[in-house]
Amino acid sequence: MKPLGPIPPGFAAIDGVLAIGGTPVTRLVEAAGSTPLFVYSADLIRQRVAALRQAMPERLSLHYAVKANPFGPILKLFSELVDGFDIASGGELELVRDAGIALSTVSFAGPGKRDEELCAAISAGVTLNLESEAEAERALRLAEKLGKTPRLAIRVNPDFDLKGSGMKMGGGAKPFGIDAQRVPALVRQIVSSGAEWRGFHIFAGSQALDADAIAETQQQTLALAARLTEESGAPLPHCNLGGGLGIPYFPGDEPVDLDRVGEKLAEEFARLPDSLSQTEFCIELGRYLVGEAGVYLARIVDRKESHGEVFLITDGGLHHQLAASGNFGTVIRRNYPAAIATRFDAPVEEAAHIVGCLCTPLDRLSDNAGFPRAQVGDLVAIFCAGAYGASASPATFLGQGPAQETLV
Ligand SMILES: Cc1ncc(COP(=O)(O)O)c(C=O)c1O
Repeated sequence: MKPLGPIPPGFAAIDGVLAIGGTPVTRLVEAAGSTPLFVYSADLIRQRVAALRQAMPERLSLHYAVKANPFGPILKLFSELVDGFDIASGGELELVRDAGIALSTVSFAGPGKRDEELCAAISAGVTLNLESEAEAERALRLAEKLGKTPRLAIRVNPDFDLKGSGMKMGGGAKPFGIDAQRVPALVRQIVSSGAEWRGFHIFAGSQALDADAIAETQQQTLALAARLTEESGAPLPHCNLGGGLGIPYFPGDEPVDLDRVGEKLAEEFARLPDSLSQTEFCIELGRYLVGEAGVYLARIVDRKESHGEVFLITDGGLHHQLAASGNFGTVIRRNYPAAIATRFDAPVEEAAHIVGCLCTPLDRLSDNAGFPRAQVGDLVAIFCAGAYGASASPATFLGQGPAQETLV
């Protein structure tokens, strides 16, 4: 048998059935009308934000990275909880606009922004995190045409990466940001153009669990911001320190020691150089805020045996939960936390594979793990489904279509 990842805190059984936000999932599925269904817990999201606020220095603002989960009700919820939003496309700009989010709190990072996307962002007063000198020129030209003052920040490609991170976004040749040594010249150009200079965005990596590695990257980020500010000679209004806080997906993963990250950052803030004394700082987080608050529910439609192994075949699959299938940026496939939701407190009785309904061997949600004996009609739950699930999976593959989503 292979181990499963750790079920996040905050989930319990009511009459043997997994409950989310105090409601058994059978009732949630009934209300939604069908499976597969993503359920996101507003309580767990609120608790996560509160824990972050508690642990981090007061001076640090909190931004939500929309890419992690752009579901409308979640964006609306975050509009009450966080100080800003980071978007990565014109499509996400429309989603935050639809959610009624104040667009002055939004910044737009991402390579390859099209002219229409730049125009929409400039017109809306969104801060552009510029990814290249050429993009800066285009933004200035388009803003002039629109008769608008663009709000411009520079995404810096740092000379370091976030150690132990699942996804490295800095440290060497990268399509993201502008190499640090070329940044001061561009800052001076932006300031002299009359654009509103907004500051730096320095994102070194994501999905790190080691508090010391996160703290070290934050320290390097602050040092880099100070050096670039001094070299450019322009005050730094704002600095986005990136994010990188990860969540435990796999057996043996431990949650980030948030207090340690907060304490180390407070120490760094206490010894900032004069050049950064007036600077506002934020971190931008996606999965840390929503990942563990989401559960993917699918129904078992067939139970079969092959060569002595049990296959629980569901109506869901990798087309909704690509990451759990191991096909979204992981090298070795390991099991996400999973359970038979309708037998949530029953003991382990057998080893089984939970698979999806797609005719590909890649469509495996859980591999040879221990579960209570499940039958056709039972619901399975895949945890850690709140981030990079519904919107980061190929929903139309094999004509399947999207899952339902609900925030409770
Ligand atoms: C620029 C940027 N911001 C935010 C994120 C969100 O990362 P996470 O969801 O791990 O917090 C990413 C992820 O790759 C990113 O590239």
